[in-house]
This record gives sequence, C-alpha cells and structure tokens, in this order.
Amino acid sequence: MPKDVIIPLDFSSGREAYDFLALFPAGEKPYVKIGMELFYSEGPEIVQEIKRRGHRVFLDLKLHDIPNTVKKAAAALSRLGADIVNVHAAGTGEMMRAALASLTRPDGTRPLVIAVTQLTSTGEEAMQKELLINAGMEETVLHYAKNAKASGLDGVVCSPLEAGSVKAACGPDFLTVTPGIRFADSAADDQTRIMTPEKAREAGSDYIVVGRPIIAAGDPLAAYRRCVNEFLA
Ligand code: C5P
Repeated sequence: MPKDVIIPLDFSSGREAYDFLALFPAGEKPYVKIGMELFYSEGPEIVQEIKRRGHRVFLDLKLHDIPNTVKKAAAALSRLGADIVNVHAAGTGEMMRAALASLTRPDGTRPLVIAVTQLTSTGEEAMQKELLINAGMEETVLHYAKNAKASGLDGVVCSPLEAGSVKAACGPDFLTVTPGIRFADSAADDQTRIMTPEKAREAGSDYIVVGRPIIAAGDPLAAYRRCVNEFLA
C-alpha cells in the first residue's frame, strides 16, 4: 500500500505555489494537491508544469455533474497527467463509472480515482435537514464509500476518524485519503475532527493531506519532514 504525505497548494497564484515549492531541495519532491483555487486562477497548465517539475499531483476538483458532462470533463483532465483525481460520490454510480472510463488514457494508464462522500464541512444536522438524508453521518459516509467501490473507484477522501470503518467496509486495498491532520503541539485552525500523523497511520490512512501545519510553519521544510517521519515511521 502506498503511504505518503500530500501538501495542498492552497495558493491563489502560480507564483506563490512556485515560491513555496522552491523551499524544497532539488531531490525532494513532495506529493502536492491542486484544488479549485489554484486551478481556476492559473488554468490547466499549472498541473502540467508541476508534473514537469517532478511532483506527483492530486487534482482536487470534486467533479459532480450529469454523467455525460463529467465524461467529457474527465477526458480533458486525463491529458494533464494527474496521479489522483476526485469526484463526488453523490453524482451516482453512473457518473463515477463515466469519470473512471474517461480518465483512462489511450495507453491504458489512469490516475487513481477517489470519491468525496460527505464534505467534512457538512454537519449531520445540515445533511439531514437541508439534504434530506435521513441516515446518520457514519452510515451515509460508508454507504457512499461502498457505492464508490462498487463503481470501480480506488478509494475515498474521508476524515482519519472514518478511515478504519471505511477499510472494514470496503477492504484494506480501498484507499483512504485524509485531511484534518495536526501535530500534537499545533493549532487546530478551523478543523474540528483532527488526528496526528502517527495516529492517522494507525487508523488506516493511506495518504494524509497536511496544509497549514506545513505551509504556515516558520520552517515549512522541517515541518514537512517531521510529518513524513511521524506518518511513515
Ligand atoms: O490546512 P489544512 O491542513 O486544514 O488543509 C487541509 C486541506 O484539505 C485543504 O486543502 C482543504 O481544502 C482540504 N480538505 C479538507 N477537508 C475535506 C476535504 C478537503 O480539509 N473534507
């Protein structure tokens, strides 16, 4: 099972992202996440440029539309060479299968495709009252994870607190990519359900997404290395 630390490039311009990546020595290429902010600011070329610099890229655009539109969007994304791409499980199995098929490149390779189950910003009360989902949060997350697995996807984005139950329901090879990671001695910021890198490994996370504890640290390179050491120890 691959295990790694992914740094979200939560910047509004390519310049800031490149300045951040310049902190790393030539031989050290962290796995990075490109989300909507950077992608929409800079365009698809930013993915190709960061790949060209030797990084692996999780393209976090959370596709969610009718299957035909997702199929065409995913075909365009497949040309960018990302290593992980995600979609919303709420788009249904037909949409997830359409994404998976279109992300497969002519040479047969494809990125790992993972699903968002419920956003961690959606609380159980909002899910039940606004989305009219009557089940509890954990049951809903597991149900969406099982739908993603049945559709052929490789894993889900989830809280590290859910990683163990997702593995139990979907099997040890089903990937869990988990944000909400904090060092034992760092600020929680706006994350509420958090875990340390070491505990996330024990809980079954395959990839941890660690933003502010690295990016906002006085010494981001040292913070990244600490995170890798704690997670992969
Ligand atoms: O700074 P922090 O470590 O909280 O950053 C976490 C990253 O993971 C951010 O890019 C955030 O958007 C993303 N994320 C999250 N919770 C989710 C999905 C993505 O925090 N459920």
